[in-house]
Amino acid sequence: MKTYLITGGAGFIGANFVKYMLKKYNDINIIVLDKLTYAGNLGTIKKELNDNRVKFVKGDIANRELIEYIFANNNINYVVNFAAESHVDRSIENPKLFLETNIIGTQNLLDVAKAHWVIGKNEKGYPIFRDNVKFLQVSTDEVYGALDRDFPDGKLLIEEKKLTIDNGLSLEELNKVLKDREVIPKIFGKKFFTENTPLDPRSPYSSSKAGADMIVRAYNETYHMPINITRCSNNYGPYHFPEKLIPLMIKNVLEGKKLPVYGDGKQVRDWLYVEDHCKGIDMVINGGKIGEIYNIGGFNEEQNINIVKLIIKIIRELIEENTEYEKILKIEKENINEELITYVQDRLGHDARYAIDPSKTVKELGFYPETPFTVGIRKTIKWYLDNQEWVKEVVSGDYQKYYEKMYESR
Ligand SMILES: NC(=O)c1ccc[n+]([C@@H]2O[C@H](COP(=O)([O-])OP(=O)(O)OC[C@H]3O[C@@H](n4cnc5c(N)ncnc54)[C@H](O)[C@@H]3O)[C@@H](O)[C@H]2O)c1
Repeated sequence: MKTYLITGGAGFIGANFVKYMLKKYNDINIIVLDKLTYAGNLGTIKKELNDNRVKFVKGDIANRELIEYIFANNNINYVVNFAAESHVDRSIENPKLFLETNIIGTQNLLDVAKAHWVIGKNEKGYPIFRDNVKFLQVSTDEVYGALDRDFPDGKLLIEEKKLTIDNGLSLEELNKVLKDREVIPKIFGKKFFTENTPLDPRSPYSSSKAGADMIVRAYNETYHMPINITRCSNNYGPYHFPEKLIPLMIKNVLEGKKLPVYGDGKQVRDWLYVEDHCKGIDMVINGGKIGEIYNIGGFNEEQNINIVKLIIKIIRELIEENTEYEKILKIEKENINEELITYVQDRLGHDARYAIDPSKTVKELGFYPETPFTVGIRKTIKWYLDNQEWVKEVVSGDYQKYYEKMYESR
Protein backbone atom coordinates (compact mmCIF):
# COMPACT_ATOMS: atom_id res chain seq x y z
CA MET A 1 0.00 0.00 0.00
CA LYS A 2 1.63 3.23 -1.18
CA THR A 3 0.88 6.63 0.32
CA TYR A 4 0.89 9.75 -1.86
CA LEU A 5 1.13 13.28 -0.52
CA ILE A 6 -0.59 15.32 -3.22
CA THR A 7 -0.10 19.02 -2.70
CA GLY A 8 -2.45 21.45 -4.47
CA GLY A 9 -4.95 18.60 -4.79
CA ALA A 10 -7.93 20.96 -4.59
CA GLY A 11 -6.75 22.88 -7.66
CA PHE A 12 -7.39 22.12 -11.31
CA ILE A 13 -4.77 19.50 -12.22
CA GLY A 14 -4.18 18.23 -8.67
CA ALA A 15 -7.90 17.43 -8.23
CA ASN A 16 -8.05 15.70 -11.59
CA PHE A 17 -4.98 13.69 -10.54
CA VAL A 18 -6.61 12.64 -7.23
CA LYS A 19 -9.65 11.42 -9.19
CA TYR A 20 -7.49 9.63 -11.78
CA MET A 21 -5.40 7.80 -9.17
CA LEU A 22 -8.36 6.69 -7.03
CA LYS A 23 -10.04 5.28 -10.12
CA LYS A 24 -6.91 3.54 -11.34
CA TYR A 25 -5.57 2.05 -8.10
CA ASN A 26 -7.39 0.41 -5.20
CA ASP A 27 -4.39 -0.05 -2.98
CA ILE A 28 -3.24 3.52 -2.39
CA ASN A 29 -3.67 6.15 0.28
CA ILE A 30 -3.78 9.82 -0.57
CA ILE A 31 -3.17 12.83 1.63
CA VAL A 32 -4.27 16.03 -0.07
CA LEU A 33 -2.51 19.11 1.26
CA ASP A 34 -3.90 22.39 0.00
CA LYS A 35 -3.90 25.97 1.28
CA LEU A 36 -7.25 26.58 -0.43
CA THR A 37 -6.27 29.83 -2.06
CA TYR A 38 -8.76 31.40 -4.50
CA ALA A 39 -7.76 28.60 -6.93
CA GLY A 40 -8.39 25.72 -4.55
CA ASN A 41 -11.89 24.46 -4.02
CA LEU A 42 -12.86 21.57 -1.78
CA GLY A 43 -16.11 21.15 -3.73
CA THR A 44 -14.01 19.85 -6.62
CA ILE A 45 -12.99 16.79 -4.58
CA LYS A 46 -16.14 16.48 -2.46
CA LYS A 47 -16.80 12.90 -3.53
CA GLU A 48 -13.17 11.84 -3.10
CA LEU A 49 -13.05 13.26 0.44
CA ASN A 50 -15.64 10.64 1.46
CA ASP A 51 -13.35 7.86 0.25
CA ASN A 52 -11.61 6.23 3.22
CA ARG A 53 -8.34 6.16 1.25
CA VAL A 54 -8.22 9.97 1.29
CA LYS A 55 -7.28 12.47 4.01
CA PHE A 56 -7.37 16.23 3.58
CA VAL A 57 -5.10 18.73 5.32
CA LYS A 58 -5.59 22.46 4.87
CA GLY A 59 -2.25 24.24 4.98
CA ASP A 60 0.73 25.80 3.30
CA ILE A 61 3.55 23.80 1.73
CA ALA A 62 5.92 26.43 3.13
CA ASN A 63 4.87 25.62 6.72
CA ARG A 64 7.73 23.51 8.11
CA GLU A 65 5.95 22.35 11.27
CA LEU A 66 2.90 21.23 9.37
CA ILE A 67 4.88 19.25 6.79
CA GLU A 68 6.94 17.68 9.61
CA TYR A 69 3.70 16.67 11.30
CA ILE A 70 2.31 15.10 8.12
CA PHE A 71 5.49 13.09 7.51
CA ALA A 72 5.80 12.04 11.17
CA ASN A 73 2.25 10.67 11.17
CA ASN A 74 2.09 9.04 7.75
CA ASN A 75 4.36 6.66 5.93
CA ILE A 76 4.67 8.75 2.76
CA ASN A 77 6.14 7.17 -0.37
CA TYR A 78 5.53 9.82 -3.00
CA VAL A 79 5.23 13.58 -2.89
CA VAL A 80 3.49 14.92 -6.00
CA ASN A 81 3.87 18.68 -5.84
CA PHE A 82 1.14 20.51 -7.75
CA ALA A 83 0.78 23.30 -5.16
CA ALA A 84 1.66 26.58 -6.79
CA GLU A 85 0.56 30.03 -7.65
CA SER A 86 -0.14 29.34 -11.29
CA HIS A 87 -1.54 32.38 -13.09
CA VAL A 88 0.91 34.50 -15.12
CA ASP A 89 -1.23 37.66 -14.86
CA ARG A 90 -1.32 37.41 -11.08
CA SER A 91 2.46 36.93 -11.03
CA ILE A 92 2.87 40.22 -12.88
CA GLU A 93 0.79 41.89 -10.13
CA ASN A 94 2.48 40.17 -7.16
CA PRO A 95 5.74 38.35 -7.95
CA LYS A 96 6.78 37.83 -4.31
CA LEU A 97 3.94 35.46 -3.51
CA PHE A 98 5.04 33.31 -6.44
CA LEU A 99 8.58 33.03 -5.11
CA GLU A 100 7.32 32.20 -1.63
CA THR A 101 4.97 29.41 -2.65
CA ASN A 102 6.63 28.05 -5.74
CA ILE A 103 10.27 28.15 -4.64
CA ILE A 104 10.42 28.34 -0.84
CA GLY A 105 7.40 26.04 -0.49
CA THR A 106 8.97 23.44 -2.77
CA GLN A 107 12.30 23.59 -0.94
CA ASN A 108 10.46 23.11 2.36
CA LEU A 109 8.75 19.97 1.07
CA LEU A 110 12.04 18.62 -0.27
CA ASP A 111 13.81 19.22 2.99
CA VAL A 112 11.24 17.54 5.21
CA ALA A 113 10.87 14.62 2.79
CA LYS A 114 14.65 14.18 2.79
CA ALA A 115 14.81 14.22 6.60
CA HIS A 116 12.19 11.44 6.76
CA TRP A 117 13.39 9.32 3.85
CA VAL A 118 17.13 9.09 4.54
CA ILE A 119 18.24 5.87 6.25
CA GLY A 120 22.01 6.25 6.28
CA LYS A 121 25.10 7.40 4.40
CA ASN A 122 27.24 5.71 1.78
CA GLU A 123 31.04 5.51 1.81
CA LYS A 124 31.30 8.81 -0.11
CA GLY A 125 29.09 10.59 2.39
CA TYR A 126 25.96 10.73 0.24
CA PRO A 127 22.65 10.08 2.00
CA ILE A 128 20.99 6.73 1.31
CA PHE A 129 17.25 6.98 0.74
CA ARG A 130 14.86 4.22 1.64
CA ASP A 131 13.25 2.23 -1.19
CA ASN A 132 9.97 3.17 -2.84
CA VAL A 133 10.12 6.91 -2.29
CA LYS A 134 10.16 9.72 -4.82
CA PHE A 135 9.55 13.46 -5.06
CA LEU A 136 7.75 14.44 -8.24
CA GLN A 137 7.78 18.12 -9.14
CA VAL A 138 5.01 19.16 -11.51
CA SER A 139 6.51 21.86 -13.68
CA THR A 140 5.63 23.62 -16.89
CA ASP A 141 6.97 24.13 -20.42
CA GLU A 142 6.98 27.86 -19.63
CA VAL A 143 10.37 27.42 -17.92
CA TYR A 144 11.88 27.00 -21.40
CA GLY A 145 10.81 30.52 -22.41
CA ALA A 146 9.17 31.19 -25.74
CA LEU A 147 9.62 29.88 -29.28
CA ASP A 148 9.55 31.73 -32.59
CA ARG A 149 6.49 31.69 -34.82
CA ASP A 150 8.23 30.87 -38.09
CA PHE A 151 4.89 29.99 -39.70
CA PRO A 152 2.46 32.70 -38.52
CA ASP A 153 -0.54 30.97 -40.03
CA GLY A 154 0.59 27.46 -39.17
CA LYS A 155 1.41 24.58 -41.45
CA LEU A 156 0.85 20.85 -41.40
CA LEU A 157 3.56 18.88 -39.60
CA ILE A 158 3.23 15.94 -42.01
CA GLU A 159 2.43 16.00 -45.72
CA GLU A 160 2.39 12.94 -47.97
CA LYS A 161 3.69 10.88 -45.06
CA LYS A 162 6.76 13.10 -44.75
CA LEU A 163 7.71 15.60 -42.08
CA THR A 164 7.53 19.16 -43.36
CA ILE A 165 10.33 20.36 -41.06
CA ASP A 166 13.81 19.06 -40.46
CA ASN A 167 14.73 19.55 -36.81
CA GLY A 168 15.74 16.07 -35.68
CA LEU A 169 12.21 14.75 -35.05
CA SER A 170 11.74 11.25 -36.38
CA LEU A 171 8.56 10.33 -38.21
CA GLU A 172 8.50 6.99 -36.41
CA GLU A 173 8.54 8.59 -32.94
CA LEU A 174 6.09 11.21 -34.05
CA ASN A 175 3.62 8.57 -35.16
CA LYS A 176 3.75 7.10 -31.67
CA VAL A 177 2.73 10.47 -30.23
CA LEU A 178 -0.02 10.90 -32.80
CA LYS A 179 -1.45 7.41 -32.31
CA ASP A 180 -5.24 7.41 -32.85
CA ARG A 181 -5.31 11.06 -33.98
CA GLU A 182 -7.28 11.66 -37.15
CA VAL A 183 -6.27 15.26 -37.70
CA ILE A 184 -2.68 15.98 -38.72
CA PRO A 185 -1.27 18.58 -36.35
CA LYS A 186 -0.60 22.12 -37.35
CA ILE A 187 2.65 23.70 -36.19
CA PHE A 188 3.57 27.35 -36.01
CA GLY A 189 7.37 27.10 -35.84
CA LYS A 190 10.35 24.87 -36.54
CA LYS A 191 11.52 24.33 -32.99
CA PHE A 192 9.99 22.52 -30.04
CA PHE A 193 10.96 22.39 -26.38
CA THR A 194 12.91 19.27 -25.46
CA GLU A 195 14.22 18.39 -22.01
CA ASN A 196 17.59 19.76 -23.16
CA THR A 197 16.27 23.19 -24.12
CA PRO A 198 18.04 25.70 -21.82
CA LEU A 199 15.81 27.29 -19.21
CA ASP A 200 14.84 30.81 -20.23
CA PRO A 201 11.77 31.81 -18.22
CA ARG A 202 10.30 35.23 -18.94
CA SER A 203 7.49 35.92 -16.46
CA PRO A 204 7.63 36.00 -12.65
CA TYR A 205 5.48 32.83 -12.74
CA SER A 206 7.75 30.86 -15.07
CA SER A 207 10.86 32.16 -13.28
CA SER A 208 9.51 30.90 -9.98
CA LYS A 209 8.76 27.50 -11.55
CA ALA A 210 12.26 27.38 -13.04
CA GLY A 211 13.70 28.27 -9.62
CA ALA A 212 11.74 25.38 -8.11
CA ASP A 213 12.99 22.99 -10.81
CA MET A 214 16.58 24.00 -10.08
CA ILE A 215 16.29 23.37 -6.35
CA VAL A 216 14.61 20.00 -7.00
CA ARG A 217 17.52 19.05 -9.28
CA ALA A 218 19.97 20.32 -6.69
CA TYR A 219 18.53 17.91 -4.09
CA ASN A 220 19.12 15.10 -6.55
CA GLU A 221 22.69 16.12 -7.41
CA THR A 222 23.73 17.08 -3.88
CA TYR A 223 21.91 14.51 -1.74
CA HIS A 224 21.01 11.84 -4.34
CA MET A 225 17.37 12.41 -3.51
CA PRO A 226 15.07 10.38 -5.80
CA ILE A 227 13.23 12.98 -7.85
CA ASN A 228 11.59 13.52 -11.21
CA ILE A 229 10.41 16.70 -12.84
CA THR A 230 7.59 16.76 -15.39
CA ARG A 231 7.13 19.74 -17.71
CA CYS A 232 3.78 20.01 -19.31
CA SER A 233 2.09 22.16 -21.92
CA ASN A 234 -1.17 24.09 -21.34
CA ASN A 235 -3.82 21.88 -19.77
CA TYR A 236 -7.55 22.13 -20.35
CA GLY A 237 -10.50 20.13 -19.07
CA PRO A 238 -13.03 19.98 -16.22
CA TYR A 239 -12.55 21.94 -12.97
CA HIS A 240 -10.34 24.61 -14.54
CA PHE A 241 -10.65 27.90 -12.67
CA PRO A 242 -12.38 30.46 -14.90
CA GLU A 243 -9.50 32.92 -15.05
CA LYS A 244 -7.55 30.88 -17.61
CA LEU A 245 -8.32 31.25 -21.31
CA ILE A 246 -10.66 28.33 -22.07
CA PRO A 247 -12.91 28.35 -18.97
CA LEU A 248 -12.96 32.16 -18.94
CA MET A 249 -14.18 32.34 -22.51
CA ILE A 250 -16.83 29.67 -21.92
CA LYS A 251 -18.09 31.54 -18.85
CA ASN A 252 -18.19 34.87 -20.65
CA VAL A 253 -20.03 33.49 -23.68
CA LEU A 254 -22.74 32.01 -21.45
CA GLU A 255 -23.04 35.30 -19.56
CA GLY A 256 -23.12 37.31 -22.78
CA LYS A 257 -19.99 39.20 -21.76
CA LYS A 258 -17.25 40.38 -24.09
CA LEU A 259 -14.43 37.92 -24.78
CA PRO A 260 -11.18 39.75 -23.93
CA VAL A 261 -8.36 38.58 -26.18
CA TYR A 262 -4.83 39.82 -25.48
CA GLY A 263 -3.06 41.73 -28.28
CA ASP A 264 -3.74 40.26 -31.70
CA GLY A 265 -4.64 36.85 -30.24
CA LYS A 266 -1.99 35.15 -32.33
CA GLN A 267 -0.04 33.71 -29.39
CA VAL A 268 0.32 29.96 -29.83
CA ARG A 269 -0.20 27.45 -27.03
CA ASP A 270 0.15 23.66 -27.06
CA TRP A 271 -2.96 22.13 -25.46
CA LEU A 272 -3.19 18.88 -23.48
CA TYR A 273 -6.33 17.32 -22.02
CA VAL A 274 -5.85 17.23 -18.25
CA GLU A 275 -6.45 13.49 -17.93
CA ASP A 276 -3.59 12.85 -20.34
CA HIS A 277 -1.36 14.95 -18.11
CA CYS A 278 -2.44 12.86 -15.09
CA LYS A 279 -1.64 9.69 -17.01
CA GLY A 280 1.83 11.03 -17.85
CA ILE A 281 2.58 11.95 -14.23
CA ASP A 282 1.56 8.48 -13.06
CA MET A 283 3.86 6.95 -15.67
CA VAL A 284 6.76 9.08 -14.52
CA ILE A 285 6.19 8.25 -10.84
CA ASN A 286 6.16 4.54 -11.63
CA GLY A 287 8.67 4.31 -14.47
CA GLY A 288 10.68 7.53 -14.66
CA LYS A 289 14.44 7.17 -14.20
CA ILE A 290 15.59 8.83 -11.01
CA GLY A 291 16.83 12.38 -11.50
CA GLU A 292 15.31 12.75 -14.96
CA ILE A 293 13.07 15.39 -16.46
CA TYR A 294 10.14 14.40 -18.71
CA ASN A 295 8.16 16.59 -21.10
CA ILE A 296 4.45 15.79 -21.21
CA GLY A 297 2.33 17.01 -24.10
CA GLY A 298 2.49 16.84 -27.80
CA PHE A 299 1.64 18.58 -31.04
CA ASN A 300 -1.62 20.31 -30.31
CA GLU A 301 -0.68 23.87 -31.18
CA GLU A 302 -3.27 26.53 -31.77
CA GLN A 303 -3.51 30.32 -31.76
CA ASN A 304 -5.47 31.78 -28.86
CA ILE A 305 -7.83 33.58 -31.21
CA ASN A 306 -8.75 30.33 -32.96
CA ILE A 307 -9.45 28.68 -29.61
CA VAL A 308 -11.85 31.50 -28.77
CA LYS A 309 -13.62 31.19 -32.13
CA LEU A 310 -13.88 27.42 -31.69
CA ILE A 311 -15.42 27.83 -28.24
CA ILE A 312 -18.09 30.14 -29.68
CA LYS A 313 -18.86 27.63 -32.44
CA ILE A 314 -19.05 24.59 -30.15
CA ILE A 315 -21.23 26.34 -27.57
CA ARG A 316 -23.69 27.21 -30.35
CA GLU A 317 -23.68 23.63 -31.60
CA LEU A 318 -24.23 22.15 -28.13
CA ILE A 319 -27.13 24.52 -27.54
CA GLU A 320 -28.68 23.53 -30.87
CA GLU A 321 -28.33 19.86 -29.89
CA ASN A 322 -29.87 20.31 -26.43
CA THR A 323 -32.18 23.26 -25.99
CA GLU A 324 -32.16 22.71 -22.19
CA TYR A 325 -28.83 24.55 -22.20
CA GLU A 326 -30.63 27.71 -23.33
CA LYS A 327 -31.78 28.10 -19.71
CA ILE A 328 -28.18 28.82 -18.69
CA LEU A 329 -27.76 31.65 -21.18
CA LYS A 330 -27.80 35.30 -20.18
CA ILE A 331 -27.67 36.20 -23.87
CA GLU A 332 -29.90 35.47 -26.86
CA LYS A 333 -28.46 32.44 -28.57
CA GLU A 334 -28.45 34.33 -31.91
CA ASN A 335 -25.99 36.78 -30.34
CA ILE A 336 -23.42 34.11 -29.60
CA ASN A 337 -21.02 34.95 -32.36
CA GLU A 338 -17.57 36.38 -33.02
CA GLU A 339 -18.78 39.92 -32.38
CA LEU A 340 -18.36 39.10 -28.69
CA ILE A 341 -14.58 39.13 -29.18
CA THR A 342 -12.83 42.27 -28.01
CA TYR A 343 -9.09 42.83 -28.30
CA VAL A 344 -7.47 44.23 -25.14
CA GLN A 345 -3.96 45.54 -24.47
CA ASP A 346 -1.47 42.67 -24.60
CA ARG A 347 -0.02 41.07 -21.46
CA LEU A 348 3.42 42.48 -20.53
CA GLY A 349 6.14 40.22 -21.95
CA HIS A 350 3.60 37.89 -23.53
CA ASP A 351 5.33 34.69 -24.78
CA ALA A 352 4.74 34.13 -28.50
CA ARG A 353 4.66 30.35 -28.73
CA TYR A 354 5.01 27.21 -26.63
CA ALA A 355 5.34 23.77 -28.20
CA ILE A 356 6.48 20.55 -26.58
CA ASP A 357 8.42 17.64 -28.04
CA PRO A 358 7.58 14.69 -25.77
CA SER A 359 9.72 12.13 -27.67
CA LYS A 360 11.72 11.12 -24.59
CA THR A 361 8.60 10.38 -22.54
CA VAL A 362 7.12 8.51 -25.49
CA LYS A 363 10.24 6.42 -26.03
CA GLU A 364 11.04 5.65 -22.40
CA LEU A 365 7.59 5.36 -20.87
CA GLY A 366 5.19 4.76 -23.76
CA PHE A 367 3.30 7.99 -23.11
CA TYR A 368 1.09 9.59 -25.75
CA PRO A 369 -1.81 12.04 -25.45
CA GLU A 370 -4.99 10.00 -25.91
CA THR A 371 -7.52 12.80 -26.26
CA PRO A 372 -7.46 14.66 -29.57
CA PHE A 373 -8.16 18.36 -29.15
CA THR A 374 -11.35 18.18 -31.21
CA VAL A 375 -12.77 15.62 -28.76
CA GLY A 376 -11.35 17.14 -25.58
CA ILE A 377 -12.58 20.67 -26.21
CA ARG A 378 -16.18 19.51 -26.83
CA LYS A 379 -16.05 17.34 -23.71
CA THR A 380 -14.73 20.27 -21.70
CA ILE A 381 -17.35 22.75 -22.91
CA LYS A 382 -20.12 20.23 -22.28
CA TRP A 383 -18.74 19.69 -18.77
CA TYR A 384 -19.00 23.42 -18.09
CA LEU A 385 -22.56 23.53 -19.42
CA ASP A 386 -23.47 20.61 -17.14
CA ASN A 387 -21.66 21.96 -14.09
CA GLN A 388 -22.72 25.56 -13.72
CA GLU A 389 -23.11 25.09 -9.95
CA TRP A 390 -19.41 24.39 -9.67
CA VAL A 391 -18.59 27.54 -11.63
CA LYS A 392 -20.81 29.65 -9.34
CA GLU A 393 -19.18 28.12 -6.30
CA VAL A 394 -15.61 28.95 -7.31
CA VAL A 395 -16.29 32.44 -8.54
CA SER A 396 -16.16 34.45 -5.34
CA GLY A 397 -16.32 38.18 -4.64
CA ASP A 398 -12.55 38.25 -4.44
CA TYR A 399 -12.37 36.86 -7.94
CA GLN A 400 -14.80 39.51 -9.20
CA LYS A 401 -12.57 42.33 -7.93
CA TYR A 402 -9.56 40.76 -9.53
CA TYR A 403 -11.40 40.29 -12.80
CA GLU A 404 -12.42 43.94 -12.95
CA LYS A 405 -8.87 45.06 -12.27
CA MET A 406 -7.39 42.84 -14.98
CA TYR A 407 -9.85 43.34 -17.81
CA GLU A 408 -12.55 45.92 -17.30
CA SER A 409 -10.21 48.90 -17.12
CA ARG A 410 -8.27 47.93 -20.26
N1 LIG B 1 -2.63 24.68 -15.80
C1 LIG B 1 -1.70 24.40 -16.67
O1 LIG B 1 -1.95 24.49 -17.88
C2 LIG B 1 -0.35 23.90 -16.24
C3 LIG B 1 0.53 23.46 -17.22
C4 LIG B 1 1.77 22.95 -16.84
C5 LIG B 1 2.09 22.90 -15.48
N2 LIG B 1 1.22 23.36 -14.54
C6 LIG B 1 1.63 23.26 -13.11
O2 LIG B 1 0.75 22.32 -12.51
C7 LIG B 1 0.50 22.66 -11.15
C8 LIG B 1 -0.98 22.75 -10.90
O3 LIG B 1 -1.55 23.74 -11.79
P1 LIG B 1 -3.10 24.09 -11.75
O4 LIG B 1 -3.44 24.65 -13.06
O5 LIG B 1 -3.85 22.94 -11.20
O6 LIG B 1 -3.08 25.27 -10.66
P2 LIG B 1 -4.28 25.83 -9.78
O7 LIG B 1 -3.92 27.27 -9.57
O8 LIG B 1 -5.59 25.46 -10.34
O9 LIG B 1 -4.13 25.04 -8.40
C9 LIG B 1 -3.10 25.26 -7.49
C10 LIG B 1 -3.52 24.67 -6.15
O10 LIG B 1 -2.44 24.87 -5.24
C11 LIG B 1 -2.97 25.37 -4.01
N3 LIG B 1 -1.94 26.18 -3.38
C12 LIG B 1 -1.48 27.40 -3.78
N4 LIG B 1 -0.52 27.83 -2.93
C13 LIG B 1 -0.37 26.85 -1.99
C14 LIG B 1 0.48 26.70 -0.87
N5 LIG B 1 1.36 27.64 -0.53
N6 LIG B 1 0.38 25.57 -0.12
C15 LIG B 1 -0.53 24.61 -0.44
N7 LIG B 1 -1.36 24.72 -1.48
C16 LIG B 1 -1.28 25.82 -2.26
C17 LIG B 1 -4.20 26.17 -4.41
O11 LIG B 1 -5.11 26.33 -3.34
C18 LIG B 1 -4.76 25.32 -5.55
O12 LIG B 1 -5.63 24.34 -5.05
C19 LIG B 1 1.24 23.99 -10.92
O13 LIG B 1 2.45 23.69 -10.27
C20 LIG B 1 1.49 24.54 -12.31
O14 LIG B 1 2.66 25.28 -12.34
C21 LIG B 1 0.01 23.86 -14.89
